[in-house]
Parts: sequence; C-alpha cells; structure tokens
Amino acid sequence: MANIVVAGTQWGDEGKGKIVDLLAENADAVVRFQGGNNAGHTMVVNGEQFVSHLIPSGILQKKICIIGNGLVVDPKVLIEEINYLKQKNITITPKNFIISDRAQVIMPYHKLIDTGREKLKGDKKIGTTGRGIGPCYEDKAARTGIRFAEFIKETVFSEKLKTVLVEKNFYIEKFLKLNPSTLEEILAEYKEYAKILAPYVADASTAINKLIKNKGQILLEGAQGTHLDIDHGTYPYVTSSNTVAGGACAGAGIGPKRIDEVIGIVKAYTTRVGEGPFPAELFDKTGAFIQKKGMEFGATTGRKRRCGWLDLVILNNAVKLNGLTGLAITKLDVLGELKSLMICTGYKYKNSIIKDFPADCKILEKCEPIYEEMPGWNEDISLIDRYENLPQNTKDYLKRIEELSETPVYIISIGPQRDKTIVLNNPFLNIPA
Ligand code: IMP
Repeated sequence: MANIVVAGTQWGDEGKGKIVDLLAENADAVVRFQGGNNAGHTMVVNGEQFVSHLIPSGILQKKICIIGNGLVVDPKVLIEEINYLKQKNITITPKNFIISDRAQVIMPYHKLIDTGREKLKGDKKIGTTGRGIGPCYEDKAARTGIRFAEFIKETVFSEKLKTVLVEKNFYIEKFLKLNPSTLEEILAEYKEYAKILAPYVADASTAINKLIKNKGQILLEGAQGTHLDIDHGTYPYVTSSNTVAGGACAGAGIGPKRIDEVIGIVKAYTTRVGEGPFPAELFDKTGAFIQKKGMEFGATTGRKRRCGWLDLVILNNAVKLNGLTGLAITKLDVLGELKSLMICTGYKYKNSIIKDFPADCKILEKCEPIYEEMPGWNEDISLIDRYENLPQNTKDYLKRIEELSETPVYIISIGPQRDKTIVLNNPFLNIPA
C-alpha cells in the first residue's frame, strides 16, 4: 500500500496531468488538494485529447476522484467539465466523484475583483488567470468565504451571501469602478448550480481516510508548481495556495505520516506563464524553437509560455521543499533537435554565486544564470520504448539531472500520449503492502 503526492517542481505546466493519469492506473483514488480552475491538464488517450481544469485526471482511469477541502471551485466551470466528460462517455456519479463539503465556492465577485485589480495594477500586474482564485482564498482566510456545505443549503447560502455582498459590492463599485451583480442575480444563477452539484458534496477527508484504512492507494495531485507556492514561490508573482507537497495533508485532510512518496514533475526545460522573474529564460531563437515545438501555450488561458533552460537551482529548491523521492522528467523529446543543451547550475548575483533560491524577487530579477553545457542528441526519441535504447547523450542528460538534484529519475515522458512513457520505478507497484 502506498500513497503518493505528485508535485510540480517549476512554475506549473510541467505535465502533471499525464503523469497523474499514468500513475492513477494503480491507485484507488485521486485527490486534488489545492488551487482551482487556474490549472489545466491536457491528456491524450488513444489519440483523443482531454482537457480538465478541476476534476482530477484520474477520472480517465475510472478511479474515485476527489476535490479536496483545499480547493476553490467555480461551480459553473465544474458543471461544464462534468458535462464535457460525460459527453466523452466518462462515468461521473456520486460514487466515483466527491467534492469536499469544506471546499470554497468561487463567486462572480471573486472573478470581477481578480480581473479588475489586475487591470488597475497595469504593468505591475501579477498576470493571474483571472479565474477569481486569489480573491476566493482571501475570503477563506478572512472567514467570509462560502463553503460547499453552506452553498448547497439554500437558506444558509442566501443569508451568508446577503451579508458578504454588501462589502464586496461596495469595493467593486467604489474602488474598482465596475458594475457588480445583484444578490438576486447571483442567487438565481447559483441556486441552479447548487442543485446540480449537491449530490457530489461529502466529507472528503473521512472518505479518503476510510480508503487508506482499507489499504487503498491514494494519489494526491498538486496543481501549479513549487515556485508558484504562496509561501515559497516568487512572491508576489505566485498563486494563492500552498502548491508544495506539504499542502497535500491540509488540502486533503490526511496526516503527514500517510504519505510514502513524493514525485516531482520536471519539464526537461523550464516554462512560466504570467509575470515574475525567470533567470534561465531564453529570448533567442532557441527559446522560440522550444516554445513552438513544445506547443507551450497555457491550457487555461491560451497565453504563450515563456521558455528557458532547465534550472537546477529551481529543481534543488523543489527537492528540498517537497522532500522529493523521485522525479518524472517530461517533454524530453522536445529537446531532440538541439545540438547542445544548457543546464543552469547556479546564479551570479553581483560578486557572489547563489545556489539557494533567494526569497527576494528583486534579487532574483538581477541573477544571471551560470550554465553547464551538454551535448544534445539530435534525434527523435519519441518512438523509443526502453531506457536502454535512448541515445547515450540523452542518458547522460538524465544522469546529470540525477547527480545535481541527488534524486532518482522514476519516469521519462517522450510524448503527450499515455504510452510514450518509460517507467523506471512505479512506487505504487514497488512499495510492499
Ligand atoms: P492565479 O493562480 O490565477 O491567481 O495566478 C497567479 C499566477 O500563477 C500567475 O502568474 C498565473 O499565470 C500562474 N498560474 C496559475 N495557475 C497556473 C497553472 O496551472 N500553470 C501555470 N501557471 C499558473
């Protein structure tokens, strides 16, 4: 029996969806523990593409899928996603899909505040996804948020909304100078959503712990990445939740001793969407090549992702913060045609060399990457199905990542499809019961 956390090591978009989908085959349940529909997973199964923003990617493997208490959920988006998956003949019932009664509901005013504030900030904007994530987490911390347990009880919901809306609409009208929705408008829309979602709402923590007690295997799926973490990321250019593996316990309602392995997803290069410092960013034709070949567009907003070389300062920070036990290297095939590859092993800042990720974004902005050069393999590796058959230079690149991060590579992904994966170690199969 094993419980595994999957965490992004960079700035999100590392390809967690595919790896979660793959590992889910041997899991009993897949749980999301933070974020909301700012995330986007693209999976390709039997030539068909699936995109999900809220429902854990394990749904394709017919596993129990759980939205943990740590999430902020836009009910409209969730209903659209349920319908989209049902249309693709995927079964979603209260037996295989649970929404935590403690998860927070994203309201129309959260979205309005998110986009309105970004507009006001001008070139100081964070570059949020505009989905209302930050304002919803703010209300959670301010204890004015609406949880699913309240949302599905019509009178409780309308009473709470009535109180909260006074302050929200004052802020929206007077400060953001926007038109807020009225109580009646929101109630009419959200009452319908509550009716549809109510059957799925349950005590997720109890359900997860019961599964663990009965020797079930749980896969805990992180969203975004370590460097978008509210505490440990490139603050303030971060999301509003704890994306690191530690967040899995609070966001799913399980104890830390329940977690056996933490797999870090590492894109073979680095990408970032939105604003914020990115020392190994490429502004040349190699960056443009990676962006195009890797099809680096955000799955949620469609924005072009900024691209750069693999950064070991970042990865080592993720190893430390998440306690990574293994790595899954994704999109390795994208680097195929490059003659040489660079790995960032440290930063030069003024007259010093930095190896530990700095807290101050102003310092990070001025850091210059120190590179180690490695030969590329100049070959299409997407058709290779065994580690032994990879070109020597590819193996050397992987070995170097292992050496520098002091963490073993468990999984290598060489294409978007489920079968384009080389699995060296699957902890679900290797941890004794
Ligand atoms: P928010 O999460 O919408 O508040 O956005 C805050 C920052 O996190 C912005 O830079 C977003 O681009 C980034 N972000 C949020 N979700 C993701 C994701 O799933 N992948 C990559 N970046 C993300």
